[in-house]
Amino acid sequence: MAGRIPENILEDILGRLDLVELISGYIPLKKSGRNFKANCPFHHEKTASFMVSPDRQIYHCFGCGESGNAFKFLMRHERMDFPEAVELLAKKAGVNLPKQDSPEVSRAASLSSQLYKVNELAVSFYENNLYAESAAATREYLSKRGISPKTAKEFHLGFAASGWDHLINFLRLKNISLALMEKAGLILPKEGGGYYDRFRNRIIFPVFDIRLRPIGFGARVLDKSLPKYLNSPETPVYTKGRNLFGLNLSKDCIRDADSAIIVEGYLDFIIPYQEGIKNIVASQGTALTLEQIRLLKRYTNKAVMVYDGDTAGQIATLRSLDMLIEEGMNVKIVPLPKGLDPDALVRLKGAASFKEMIDQAAGLFDYKLEVLKSRHDMKEAHGKSRIASEMLLTINKFDNAILRAEYSKRLSEEINIPENCILEELNKLKPNTLPQEKLSSSIAGSTPLINPAEKMLIKFMLEEKELIEKIMGELEPADFQDTRTAKVVSIMLDLFSRGKSIAPSLLLNYFSEDDASQLLCESIFMPELLEEEREKALNDCIRRIKVERLKSRRERLHVQIKSAQSSGDEKRLSGLIREFHELIKKGD
Ligand code: CTP
Ligand code: MN
Repeated sequence: MAGRIPENILEDILGRLDLVELISGYIPLKKSGRNFKANCPFHHEKTASFMVSPDRQIYHCFGCGESGNAFKFLMRHERMDFPEAVELLAKKAGVNLPKQDSPEVSRAASLSSQLYKVNELAVSFYENNLYAESAAATREYLSKRGISPKTAKEFHLGFAASGWDHLINFLRLKNISLALMEKAGLILPKEGGGYYDRFRNRIIFPVFDIRLRPIGFGARVLDKSLPKYLNSPETPVYTKGRNLFGLNLSKDCIRDADSAIIVEGYLDFIIPYQEGIKNIVASQGTALTLEQIRLLKRYTNKAVMVYDGDTAGQIATLRSLDMLIEEGMNVKIVPLPKGLDPDALVRLKGAASFKEMIDQAAGLFDYKLEVLKSRHDMKEAHGKSRIASEMLLTINKFDNAILRAEYSKRLSEEINIPENCILEELNKLKPNTLPQEKLSSSIAGSTPLINPAEKMLIKFMLEEKELIEKIMGELEPADFQDTRTAKVVSIMLDLFSRGKSIAPSLLLNYFSEDDASQLLCESIFMPELLEEEREKALNDCIRRIKVERLKSRRERLHVQIKSAQSSGDEKRLSGLIREFHELIKKGD
């Protein structure tokens, strides 16, 4: 990783920035001893296990194992690639990067940045088309749907004319390869060879990410033919379920309002937004995904869901609800009358009345209960029990005991069942909670256990450079049994012997595999020792590793001896046995 951009530049950038400041721009951090703590932004959890060290300029999550330095944080949290993260932080730090045309950096121009470029060209191509004479009917359609010319510009709406190769020809003139167009999902291979445009005779809705890069497209027919919408396929920069349409425009308003309205469709976003309802996002289809929720959570933890009034919309809402609660979001719901969506509603009744509905949104408890009541017969014992058990599943998602008690009480009133029965049923459910946390800790635990002595020694070496020489006087990197610790130690030694800095945040630039960086960060965050314990702990760790080394050598010899015995190689056998005795003597 560090090969592309000179180490000293990376060092310079990291040296001028503060990781605590950087991360607290994305998630709230709380001081905790010498470190800072937060709920991990990379996995679902209810107790904070994400740590940031101001001294070491690294972060580590004890729940999911995610760890790294400032570059890595941006790569993970903002989905940047390494050159992008370097570029952004260099700018922040006021560090000049080597000129674009230097081979180091131009090689770094990744596939993703090429795809953004192609998409950008396609956005402008489609957008231009919309203003051609031949697109009069399309502009007419947009205006019929209530989209003003100003809005069309703001969203960079466009038009793909009918015909098989308009975009191909345009992009070819711009020297874009067919392979790249295909990777961007803009063209499709023909059966007999050659390619054709994916989007034809459709209105184009470009989709941008929160960094305003065009990542994909939605494309709608102008008539009633099916399918109504075509979307970009999954590409290296686009996955429908990972993105929220419009968040690029609305994120600041959502943060300011501290609340987001979640709708389904492109038009359900565009029309209310145009009419002044700016704290809105669209999930682009029905089921909200966990990734979309986490993306939204960066801006607010309050959401109002406004989904279509049909059964599919109801089911989607219910499914999303539980996920939103599990993610600790405060959710309300606006059920729409059948056949209406936010787009139609705003056009029919105006933005003010839509706003009013949002303000009066029902809590999720009432919403879910209403939906269940309409599906099951409350008068029947079985119906009642179905309603109760469905409601309990949701109540059980709350971590907060007060909310659990409050909702249990309300459920008991609503279905007319004594509260203690409800609580009894709720308690039966309790062991099923926190599946996600269990899952993630088992992920962290799935990296095979590393001898704590090995991790401790790494911590020692990082804290006191003088100890590197002492430790390495007694051990070699290969004595560390775990391949990851061995790798960390050998890189550390190499840098140290070349007189380079071994600050943990810099060291991390040398590991592209997560395993090794996780281990490094884990070592650093191991509990601090008292001054008077250090010496003894150090010697203990060295001794333990020596014992391990001896043990594994003995085991290896044992195997070799057996094989020499069975092959009848007397000479080799006696040599091995001698070696074995010497080893045992040493061990005493
Ligand atoms: N959608 C999709 N592909 C489909 C159907 C729907 O991606 N084949 C997504 C689109 O983002 C669409 C949203 O789901 O905007 C909601 O779909 P639907 O309610 O069917 O359409 P509307 O958005 O109401 O369509 P319009 O108002 O444009 O008629
Ligand atoms: Mn609609």
